[in-house]
Amino acid sequence: MLLVTGGAGFIGANFVLSTLAETGEPIVNLDKLTYAGNLRSLASIAADARHTFVRGDIADRPLVARLLAEHRPRAIVHFAAESHVDRSIHGPAEFIRTNVVGTFCLLEEARAYWEKLPGAERDAFRFLHVSTDEVYGSLGPDDPPFRETTPYAPNSPYAASKAGADHMVRAYHHTYGLPTLTTNCSNNYGPLQFPEKLIPLMIARALADEPLPVYGDGQNVRDWLYVLDHCRAVRTVLERGRPGETYNIGGGAERRNIDVVREICALLDEARPRRTGPYSALIRFVADRPGHDRRYAMDAGKIRRELGWTPAETFESGLAKTVRWYLDNQAWVNEVTSGAYRDWIERNYAKRGAA
Ligand code: NAD
Ligand code: TYD
Repeated sequence: MLLVTGGAGFIGANFVLSTLAETGEPIVNLDKLTYAGNLRSLASIAADARHTFVRGDIADRPLVARLLAEHRPRAIVHFAAESHVDRSIHGPAEFIRTNVVGTFCLLEEARAYWEKLPGAERDAFRFLHVSTDEVYGSLGPDDPPFRETTPYAPNSPYAASKAGADHMVRAYHHTYGLPTLTTNCSNNYGPLQFPEKLIPLMIARALADEPLPVYGDGQNVRDWLYVLDHCRAVRTVLERGRPGETYNIGGGAERRNIDVVREICALLDEARPRRTGPYSALIRFVADRPGHDRRYAMDAGKIRRELGWTPAETFESGLAKTVRWYLDNQAWVNEVTSGAYRDWIERNYAKRGAA
């Protein structure tokens, strides 16, 4: 069985659901249920005996030790994190607590558990740490994409906290021999993403006939990957990755933010035409994010060559599925966008002037 952390969040929930569907392997899911975690995302497996949900903190070491002793997982797949750059600008402390200290706590308990495992189980054990392309910093327009050997240069408190966690994972392999794997992935999108991130935020606001806030000049570039392609990459690295290695995962789909927003508007114009004209009329250029990274792009050559993984979705096919999912799941959106969500929108957008 697997111990998954953060399995009620966007990528974690997609991982839990797709892993149960594709491999059937039992999962213990440890999640604190912060604003970003939602049990509604796991409603379809609420009665599935293969899934055990535990509400708790990765920094609660006695709890982690107990879960490891009781369930004896063959691997830990670590998604739990504070994950939103804009929130890390408004309040970095929680990012240090969960991403750095929480990962350290998990590593310590994983090491204690792994050291006591009998031979074959010890050899087979894996600690898979899910990280981000943002640890590598920002690219110029003509720079080659990030490789596993690109030096770390995190620019936001979020990216710095993930970089800190990555370094600890590396050190636990190097120093103690813990069989770790690290994946660094580009921007994900797809079903179940909290509507604070670009794509679901734009869909939700367009449907509510609210302005679509594009930061700065809208020319920042991200490399987009459909979430289920990411989940499959994580399973591939878990099964065949070499301990101690890191693997970059990307969609090979670089897009400027303004083009992403226009494409969402065009898909909505087709699926649910707005009475007063095209959705793109709602686009507003607003004051930029401080320290806004200009461009991310991943070279996913290593995972392709060594493990045979490539994305199945193009950006166009994945975005069409995503827009359709949000149209069909308004109840999910309404539930996760509670009072706390409205406070966040007020805090991040209300005092932002025009670009
Ligand atoms: P998310 O914010 O949607 O979900 C995070 C989950 O972690 C939530 O369910 C939350 O309740 C849980 N959590 C937070 N703090 C916790 C704690 N202290 N203990 C236990 N659970 C806790 O994030 P996501 O977008 O699903 O990202 C998952 C992972 O993937 C993160 O590590 C993130 O850095 C990484 N990542 C995300 C992206 C992306 O585009 N979203 C890209 C690359 C890497
Ligand atoms: P986001 O989804 O927050 O991911 P990240 O910052 O981790 O890449 O943002 C993606 C891009 O979209 C990023 O360049 C910032 C931009 N953006 C906007 O222009 N407006 C918004 O309201 C948000 C949330 C993001």
